This record gives sequence, C-alpha cells and structure tokens, in this order.
Amino acid sequence: MNSLFRTKPIERLQAEAGDDSHGLKRVLTRTSLISLGIGAVIGTGIFVLTGHAAADFAGPAVALSYVLSGIGCLFAGLCYAEYAASIPIAGSAYTYTYATLGELMAWIIGWDLILEYLFAASTVAVGWSKYFIYFMKDAFGIHLPEHLCRAPLDYVDGHIVQTAHTMNIPAMLLVWVITVLLVIGIKESARFNNIMVVIKVTIILMIIGIGWGYINWDNLTPFIPENTGELGKYGWSGVGKGAAVIFFAYIGFDAVSTAAQETKNPQKDMFWGMIGSLAICGVLFVGVSIVVCGMVSYKELHVDAPVVYAFEKAAGDGLKWLRLAVELAVLAGLSSVILVLLMGQPRVFFSMAKDGLLPAFFAKVHPKFGTPHITTIITGILCSLLAGFLPLNLLGELVSIGTLLAFAVVCVGIIVLRKTRPDMPRPYRTPWVPLVPVLGAGLCILQSVLLPADTWLRLIVWMGLGLVVYFLYGRHHSRLKQPS
Ligand code: ALA
Repeated sequence: MNSLFRTKPIERLQAEAGDDSHGLKRVLTRTSLISLGIGAVIGTGIFVLTGHAAADFAGPAVALSYVLSGIGCLFAGLCYAEYAASIPIAGSAYTYTYATLGELMAWIIGWDLILEYLFAASTVAVGWSKYFIYFMKDAFGIHLPEHLCRAPLDYVDGHIVQTAHTMNIPAMLLVWVITVLLVIGIKESARFNNIMVVIKVTIILMIIGIGWGYINWDNLTPFIPENTGELGKYGWSGVGKGAAVIFFAYIGFDAVSTAAQETKNPQKDMFWGMIGSLAICGVLFVGVSIVVCGMVSYKELHVDAPVVYAFEKAAGDGLKWLRLAVELAVLAGLSSVILVLLMGQPRVFFSMAKDGLLPAFFAKVHPKFGTPHITTIITGILCSLLAGFLPLNLLGELVSIGTLLAFAVVCVGIIVLRKTRPDMPRPYRTPWVPLVPVLGAGLCILQSVLLPADTWLRLIVWMGLGLVVYFLYGRHHSRLKQPS
C-alpha cells in the first residue's frame, strides 16, 4: 500500500535535471519559451468559444470571464513556475506530483495530461480542418470534397452515429507534418512556432485596432446582462460559467514547462515563458472579446466563426481582406497550438518511461536530432487517428476538466512541498503561499464544477482506465522499486 504513495526524491530529480546525458538539446531561450506559450494558447478558444460563451452565458461580460479564468491560470502558473525552476524536468505536472503527492497521484496526473495535450491537439486539428475548408474556398475558390474532410463518426444527442464521411484527411496530414517537424528538432519546431506566432499576434492586433472603430457601444450595455433566473444564464453566475467554457482558451501555457530539459537557463526562464505568455494572451483575449461583442449583439454570436461573423456584419464586404486575414490567423494559430501540445505530450511520456511507469523503449532519444522521437511518433499516430476518425465534440470539455484537475493538483503540491522541503533551493518562489495556491486550486475547482455532469462522468471513466493500466503495468515496473 505504501508503495502507492512513494515519492521521487527531489535530489534524484534535480540530479536528473542537471545531467545532460539524456540527449535532449538545450537550445531554447526566454523569447522562444514565451513564443511557445503564446503558440499553445491562442487558438480555438479565442476564435470560436468567445462567441459561444458570450451568446449563451456571459453576454459582453465574457471579457470578465477571460479575466476571471486568467487569474485562476495566473495563480496556477505561479505555482508551476516554482516547480519548473526548481525541478526542470520534461514531465511537468506529472514529475512535480511524483515529488510531492506520490506515485499513484503522479500516474493519475500523467494520465490526465493525455487529455490536455493529446486529446486537445486532436480536437484543435479537427477545428483547423474546418477553417482550412473555408479558407481554400474563400481564398482560392477550391471546394474540397466534404467526405474526405470529416470523420466517419459523429456524436449527436448523447449517441455516437455513423456519418456518410470517410475520414478527415486535412487534419491527419497536418498532424503528420507537425510530427515530422517535432522529430527533426526542437530548434526547428520553435522556429516554425515563432513564424506562426508573429502571424497570429499581428492579425489579432489588427482585429482589435480596426474592430475598435466599428464598436457600437449600445451592444456593450448592459455589460453584464441580467440573470434569467437560471444559474449560469447571464449575470455573475454567467460570468463564472463563461469562465469555465473559455478556460480552454488558456490551455497550453503550462506546456512550456515540458521543454525544461531543452531550455538553456530553465531556472530563470521558465517563469517568463509561462507567466509572460499568459499575460500577453490574457490582454489580447480581453481586447478581442470587447471588440467582437461591441461590433454585434452578443445574442448573435453562437456561430462557427464569431470573429469573421462580427466583421461581416459590421463592415459588410468592405473588409473582406481582413476576414481572409482572420482565417489565415486561425490556420496559423491552430497549427502552432497543435505543435506545442504535440511537443508537450511526448515529453511527459518520456519522463514516465524514464521512471519505469511506461516501457523503457519510450525514453529513447534520437541520436542525431536530440528529440524523444519514439514518443513523438507514437503521439503523432494516436493524434492523427483520433482527429481523422472520431467525433471530437465528445472531448472538448473533457480536455478542460482534465487540465483544471492538473492545475489544482499542482497548486496543492506547492503547499505540500513548502511543508515537506522548506529548505529546498528554489530559484523562483511562488509569492504569498498558501494564499496563491489556495486561490489557484479554488478557482480551478470552481470552474470545473461548472462544467456539465456528463463531462465529469467521462473524466471518471478515463481515470478508471488509467488506474487499470497502472495496476497492470506501471506499479510493477516503477524504478522507485530499485535502489537509485
Ligand atoms: N488554448 C488552445 C486553444 O484555444 C488549446 O486552441
């Protein structure tokens, strides 16, 4: 029984972090980390979910939902930063939990991170392919055959049904291209990410700058529409529910911590990578949501592409070029989200394999490219199959709940670590402990309870599956069973 709670000694972790014989290449700088964070964060959330959360829950106050959710992420991010600076290991939340709450909880978080990285990447790839179809039509007049761009299964009213489609080829191809890039090198991947980030941030600044001139201030009053009497339908409870829905938009900044073993100076730069990217994205999110809700009534925003819709309504054909630019930003934006999430997942698997909880074969590093190529390829194959064949509307909120759980556990872990290892050298210390971690965990739990009950049920099923794998394999192969 005790073995379930065995923790991995911090000294052993720090020795592993300092020992570069793992083969990963230390090439990332502070700027590339911030860019990776922005790359992972700005995607489906801001371009799609803003409209849904405004129309259905928060009204124009979706900007406040962004602030609320952003504060929760900031608190969790400050906790991540202490860990990532002190224990700069690729396993991120999984490794931190191993050092504080023990092996079983670490496995649960490692398994949970599959939701955040692998499943989220597949979901975003499906969203990308939808925009790709629009873009090919709008920009080049090319109509891609629909049956080759959608999954053969769909999820409708609680049932999985068969569709007339074959598979989602654009989504699968994108995942493969990104996988190849990730195998070739972290530096090359970071360079591609930088280009995508420049494109998407430039276009978002244009959306805010140009859209501001089209704001009809009447659309923003009342800023918080009166609650309809139903919990979560406008009013302050709607702001809370909106925060839970748009939380997806912030997912990914923590993936920066999985690049710790490839960072030149993780002790100093992990903080900036996570908190810097989070702050920049938070400001852009609030700006875009005010502009979009100001251009058209929030009631009209439950559409596939709310940002494009807002410009179409407010400016007619006059800004067609900007609509095309937004589509381009979405394509660039989503591809970098997928890139960073698919970078994070193999590194968590890599750390789990190094600890013996997954087969040792997973922990191989490519002798020339210096990347965890086995786990990267496995992740790419799984991601492309999920994106190509499955109905991923089933998974959207599961990704959020899984991430909220990981964030909450990381926050709790900081309090435990301060008690168990007060003397541990910490290049960065989370401020105001225990207030910040308690508020961070509290806000994450609050947002997760506002998600639908069936999402919770799916989470429990997923975790149950994970426990079966742990008891059949990980528990017996854990390296903590052997002397170090
Ligand atoms: N934050 C990422 C997105 O919104 C996952 O697409």
